[in-house]
Amino acid sequence: MKPATLTSSAALRQRLITADGASHLAACSIAPRTIEVEQALCRMFDDLARPGFWRACEEQADQARRLFAQLIGAHPDQIAILPNASVAAYQVASSRRWRRRRELLASTAEFPGIAHTWLNRLQARVRWVGSCDGVAQTDDYLPQITPRIGMVSVPAVTYRDAVHLNVARIADAAHSVGATVFVDAYQAAGVMPLTVDGLRCDYLVAGTGKYLLGLPGLAFLYVRDPDGPPPTLTGWLGRVRPFDFRATVVDFPTHARRYETGTPAAAAMYAAVAGLTLVNGLDLWQVRRHTQQLITAATRRLSAHGEVLRTAAHPDAQGAHVALFDPDADAIAAWLGDRGILAAPRGRVLRLATHAYTTDDDIDAACASVVSYRRHHRNQSGGR
Ligand SMILES: Cc1ncc(COP(=O)(O)O)c(C=O)c1O
Repeated sequence: MKPATLTSSAALRQRLITADGASHLAACSIAPRTIEVEQALCRMFDDLARPGFWRACEEQADQARRLFAQLIGAHPDQIAILPNASVAAYQVASSRRWRRRRELLASTAEFPGIAHTWLNRLQARVRWVGSCDGVAQTDDYLPQITPRIGMVSVPAVTYRDAVHLNVARIADAAHSVGATVFVDAYQAAGVMPLTVDGLRCDYLVAGTGKYLLGLPGLAFLYVRDPDGPPPTLTGWLGRVRPFDFRATVVDFPTHARRYETGTPAAAAMYAAVAGLTLVNGLDLWQVRRHTQQLITAATRRLSAHGEVLRTAAHPDAQGAHVALFDPDADAIAAWLGDRGILAAPRGRVLRLATHAYTTDDDIDAACASVVSYRRHHRNQSGGR
């Protein structure tokens, strides 16, 4: 079946499978359930029951690479499919030569899986930008970019506070000293327009289970020049002709499939194609304007009720979610969950994430529930 071509946020909203009146404000953590992904999983089960399942899987992989390349303005030969962003980061670190430029500049706002991968690559010495409580801004990077830096790692949008960094500015500074640039676009891809040329990055990673509207279990790695030194982790899909099944030969193709390893998660692959088809049918400039309006409205309303938010001074420096500080973010998320609102707690922060399908009513309901949670707690503690 041909997937629907979507042009509006309202049309996407219709594809969500949610209980009546429920709000999904958690795409920074997990994508909402959609009709398209359910149909894709049914197709996978049909394919499983027929001869040629692995051929069908290969076709899904080709389609997934093509759709992701289209999303970020790349060529499918620059895209590798990997199980998660951490493995993608490992593949990048291991395929770089760190002898001359031993330093890797990363930020304390990095998603831990990426930061840990950098720390665990002993050939590179990690230098940090940002505060010890995990906040980094564009200007924090610039003075730290010196000729000793081999690679700069930048999250396009930070996972906790949704700080939208100016990657292109950082990339220009990095390239001016001969360093390469790795972008973690997990919190940006699918909910705002971005291209690898616009970002001027050398590597970019994004997983499918959040704003790309697929399932967890799959990540894409973009490599601008894939024909460099090979990664140290490999598998049969990283070969020039994988279907020759030659156990005694390790060769690497000149395209990005050299970064791939073994059999991918089939369900996540089918879901990725469905999610990317939905996302590629959206006008992401319009989606960006829409989410910025929603975030501005949520920020105004929550601040007026005395909530502590960490939001950017300008909407352009803010990603698609708003982070509300609370020492017990799980408790407030549970309160919202009981009222049909799925939010995303992370540590001492409750995140409310917006997407094309998010409405003013979703934001109103979430803000009202936060207010009722506070009132309930004030009453419980006798107004102290
Ligand atoms: C910015 C960012 N990077 C990476 C990840 C996930 O990394 P991995 O796919 O290695 O689990 C997340 C997920 O929560 C994220 O928000």
